[in-house]
Amino acid sequence: MINTEILALHNASDRERAANLLRAGKLVAIPTETVYGLAANASNEQAIRGVFAAKQRPSDHPLIVHIGDISQLQDWVSDVPAVARVLIEQCWPGPLTMVFHKAAAVSPLITGGRDTVAIRMPDNALLRALLRDCGPVVAPSANLHKKISPTCAAQVISGLGGRIDAILDGGDCSVGLESTIVDVTSEPLRVLRAGPYFTAQLSEIIGADVQMPLQHDVAVAGNMPAHYQPNTKALLFSSQELQERINGLNSNAKPAAVKPAILYYSELHLPSAMHNMKLAADRRAYAKQIYQALTEADSWQCQQIWIEQPPTEWHEVNDRLKRACY
Ligand code: TXA
Ligand code: MG
Repeated sequence: MINTEILALHNASDRERAANLLRAGKLVAIPTETVYGLAANASNEQAIRGVFAAKQRPSDHPLIVHIGDISQLQDWVSDVPAVARVLIEQCWPGPLTMVFHKAAAVSPLITGGRDTVAIRMPDNALLRALLRDCGPVVAPSANLHKKISPTCAAQVISGLGGRIDAILDGGDCSVGLESTIVDVTSEPLRVLRAGPYFTAQLSEIIGADVQMPLQHDVAVAGNMPAHYQPNTKALLFSSQELQERINGLNSNAKPAAVKPAILYYSELHLPSAMHNMKLAADRRAYAKQIYQALTEADSWQCQQIWIEQPPTEWHEVNDRLKRACY
């Protein structure tokens, strides 16, 4: 166990401290608009190895390089296709990661030995200033492998406290779900991970077809059926089935077989004693809440977490929930 320093994004000397730690090859959790990332100097292989060790992440799962300024892009990619220029113009800074052909110097530790590299420019001005100051960082989500991604500092500490050098606390993440990943080397453009930029939006921005993510896309290394998992077993049900199950628990005279926690968003009828949380019925608001809700439901010590399946067209949240419930 090491001492994990708690630093504040809104304190200039704390940001300076974080930049110095990153320059020195230390591991610092950083707030982005999507989820917290576990940052390490992207030019320091020892530091990158530290990220894999702290997260217990398999070494063939490639990392996203985070840049603070567009001028930092050229050192990491071998070319920028025209379609990527449009997306950079329209979507950066923001929750869109693009996969490019990598520059020769990019460490195979970052790319898992591939010839492509994923790059993103986060939408947080103070964080970008820090990245301009100390250079690009690799930053996977700041959770232990397969666990729930953190959207506030307390969640980072509960998963990685004692395993990393510092956390830069920037409050709650405004988006709350990982970036959309799009492969700009493919034609048509291909979404590898659904996220806050919807496929239809990207298609509109570039004025061409964009391919939806495939269920188990081999191009997405680390595309695991089980991921984002609470410790409590989680199950996904249609609205109707969930209501029937809740009614069933309630109607029997005998003691209930399971004690569930309920995460729902529609007009279900729940007995007042049942642990539950009602999430937003709006797609973006729901996405912002879902990881916090899973974390909180986990803390209630129920035997199972029963989740009402959101509308099928909410691809990005359904993707995460399927893996959470696998
Ligand atoms: O919003 C986000 O993207 C967050 C914040 C911290 O920026 N980061 C994040 O990183 O979600 P991570 O490591 O949890 O997920 C990165 C995903 C992995 O599924 C990885 O396989 C994929 O990006 N990836 C990275 N490089 C890739 C590449 N060259 N080709 C295909 N997929 C890649
Ligand atoms: Mg992750």
